[in-house]
Amino acid sequence: MITVRGKHIDVLFDEGRIAAEIDRIADEIAARSSENLLAVSILKGSFVFAADLIRAMHRAGLAPEVEFISLSSYGAGTEGGAVRVLRDVDSEVKDRTILLIDDILESGRTIAFARDLLLSRGAKAVEIAVLLDKRMRRKTEIEADYVGFDCPDHFVVGYGMDVGHAFRELPFIGRVVE
Ligand code: IMP
Ligand code: MG
Repeated sequence: MITVRGKHIDVLFDEGRIAAEIDRIADEIAARSSENLLAVSILKGSFVFAADLIRAMHRAGLAPEVEFISLSSYGAGTEGGAVRVLRDVDSEVKDRTILLIDDILESGRTIAFARDLLLSRGAKAVEIAVLLDKRMRRKTEIEADYVGFDCPDHFVVGYGMDVGHAFRELPFIGRVVE
């Protein structure tokens, strides 16, 4: 347990475990994926994961290009669910194999929206990598190709993930204890 901004945070996944899972994911991607991958990090939550994953991909022998898309869902984290594009990718995605990277797969709406958008623009294939999977919360039929950890049904912070813009800087994933 550590205290940040006066809040107690219970560590769920520490730095060492996260790094080990990311190396495993990168090896899996390298074993399965084609050359010429375009990694697309979904902002903001996935920026830390994406930064570590692309470097692990380099160590695994891959040379991805990297792009960003900023998405927001109305009433993020709650029920509801229309997703919109706040900032789009710059690159042409037609005929590219895409690796979509997000922090958490929860209802699945965010990733399903991003996948469908890229496919509608002619992407050849869209693979999905997420650090955390909250399967019990799924509302759409979508699964990730690469998953770090099954996530307990708690709201989690750190390693890029926030609550009210706070705690993205934490190097581990934790849960705020009320
Ligand atoms: P989905 O569209 O319901 O799958 O939600 C996925 C998005 O919700 C992720 O990209 C996260 O940004 C956000 N999210 C879901 N659960 C959490 C959480 O526990 N902590 C922080 N963000 C979360
Ligand atoms: Mg997100």
